[in-house]
Amino acid sequence: MARKPPSHRSRRPAQRMSGTKTDGDKRKRVTSKPEQDDATRMLHQKVRTASGRKISSKLWIERQINDPYVRKAKEKGYRSRAAFKLEELDDKFGLIKHGSLVVDLGCAPGGWVQISLKRGADRVVGIDILPVDPVAGADLIEFDFMDESAPRRIKALLGAAPDLVVSDLAANTTGHRQTDHLKTVALVEAAADFALETLRPGGHFATKVFQGGAEKVLLDRLKRNFQKVQHAKPESSRKGSPEIYLVAMNLQSREP
Ligand SMILES: C[S@@+](CC[C@H](N)C(=O)[O-])C[C@H]1O[C@@H](n2cnc3c(N)ncnc32)[C@H](O)[C@@H]1O
Repeated sequence: MARKPPSHRSRRPAQRMSGTKTDGDKRKRVTSKPEQDDATRMLHQKVRTASGRKISSKLWIERQINDPYVRKAKEKGYRSRAAFKLEELDDKFGLIKHGSLVVDLGCAPGGWVQISLKRGADRVVGIDILPVDPVAGADLIEFDFMDESAPRRIKALLGAAPDLVVSDLAANTTGHRQTDHLKTVALVEAAADFALETLRPGGHFATKVFQGGAEKVLLDRLKRNFQKVQHAKPESSRKGSPEIYLVAMNLQSREP
């Protein structure tokens, strides 16, 4: 029997989670000094260079320590700073409704799973090649989404057509630009295929894409099949990052 689409939004209280990705920061040796131009008066911390530490990893650690979203994620018990991106997308587009069935592609460490449940999703199925600590109310599978059996496994777990498919998939980089580019494009297109095939009529799809990817082809395809398609760059998405999100709302057809 067809499931009734979820309606009005009701927020569930936030679930406290342990084991955030940012916990490791505590172990870094740091010195702190006041940041002169920081209006939020937060401490800017500089990592003391350990002998032999690569400059890129030093910069990464410094950026993590001083990133307000990393700090906020830790405070709220979110497993990733990426959690704020889905919060922002949901604030803007109203993607997650009370009772929603959500599929989260590339879900580790689980920030988007947490937000989906916090914002009222009834069930969430997440997939990642990396292990993810359990989240109450979610089915999480450690599996390669590019494996041809992955969509079937996800659908079997969900048991009904999803109301929302979200994808924050990002290919593990090899360092070879063209290879990385192709891997990323393939992931996004596979996510779109999955969404077009499985979403219930009227369902929504939100995906990370990278500027400069095969975005135009994807955009045209989504526009053919969804009532409204929009780009969004959440505040919490780093300014220098080429990532941007595509939000496709209200599935109308399933044309190739
Ligand atoms: C940016 S992270 C997702 C963060 C997540 N939205 C959160 O809030 O915690 C991207 C994820 O995509 C996963 N990924 C990349 N390629 C994948 C694949 N082929 N199958 C499944 N997951 C994949 C990576 O392992 C990584 O965990």
